[in-house]
Amino acid sequence: MEYYDTDSVRLSDDENSVIIIDQTLLPNRTKLLYLSSAEEIFEAISSLRVRGAPAIGICAGYAMYVISRRISSSDTEEFLDKLSQVGEYFSSARPTAVNLSAAIGRCLSAAREHKNGSAAEIREILKQTALNIHLEDIHMCLKISEYGLTLVKDGDGILTHCNAGPLATSRYGTGLGTIFLGSERGLKFRVYADETRPLLQGARLTAYELDKAGIDVTLICDNMASFVMNEGLIQAVFTGCDRVAANGDTANKIGTSGAAILAKHYGIPFYVFCPSTTIDLSCRSGKDIPIEFRDGSEIRTMFFSSPSAPEVKCLNPAFDVTDHSLITAIVTENGICLPPFEKSLRGSLKK
Ligand code: MRU
Repeated sequence: MEYYDTDSVRLSDDENSVIIIDQTLLPNRTKLLYLSSAEEIFEAISSLRVRGAPAIGICAGYAMYVISRRISSSDTEEFLDKLSQVGEYFSSARPTAVNLSAAIGRCLSAAREHKNGSAAEIREILKQTALNIHLEDIHMCLKISEYGLTLVKDGDGILTHCNAGPLATSRYGTGLGTIFLGSERGLKFRVYADETRPLLQGARLTAYELDKAGIDVTLICDNMASFVMNEGLIQAVFTGCDRVAANGDTANKIGTSGAAILAKHYGIPFYVFCPSTTIDLSCRSGKDIPIEFRDGSEIRTMFFSSPSAPEVKCLNPAFDVTDHSLITAIVTENGICLPPFEKSLRGSLKK
């Protein structure tokens, strides 16, 4: 069994908890957390114990089911009201990844469609919806990875930013899926993983996942990307994303837009990988995507045994928007979208 055949998020056998791997402890410790209360789930999402756009969507799906089992009301109206409140609470945990609010919206719509049923029947619908969100993600990641393999060749050097692997999704991942699938098929890629300041998802998670799978990975600081590109070591940049606007602007981990600007300068293709559930046509451009700002302590003190800077103000946007003009292609489970993205993204959603 490959490392990525296991799930980073799942429902416990007794169905009372969502089980996650605490990603804040990786790579040094692998600890499973059993999340049973709404507060525990909210805390796990907001402090990035579970993270990555698809993974928080899957977590939210199971969370809606788990919490629905704790709502005792037998009056269906009241039950649905309480469920909506829980959904709003979870959605507020992180604003940028559309997968979180979309998964919650999907659960609530499924529940409301059965408003004439009993609370027990609605719970069953919620469980099925959560399982579907999860199974669909597994399927989408595999399809995305297959399409990705048409974009690269054996021996290519690939730069990654943040983590878009199994921990952030299901199984293969999005941005890393092509690399895992290609490696299973005997292709040898050389991956350069940006460490991804300030929370080090590239160093702690991408380097860990690739190394565990026996893939050639070299860790670099974010500000070394230009150096490796200039040296001719990079043939493509692969990233995941948290939300795609109708015009192809994409929000992803802070620093992604810098990598895209560098790629353009050096004439290197810049590919974005995501399930179609990450496309949000209600956002006309990146300007409509809400950006999460996090506590400055993540820059100054987290991961340092003593503060790395004096107590000055810190600005900590968790995401940035990559302009569509910098993106070579957006790869979803429905195929490879090329510019003009206005047209190709809409087309891909119809499939
Ligand atoms: O803050 P994070 O770690 O949740 O940010 C995650 C990313 O930016 C990922 O690249 C994105 O969610 C895609 S995951 C397949």
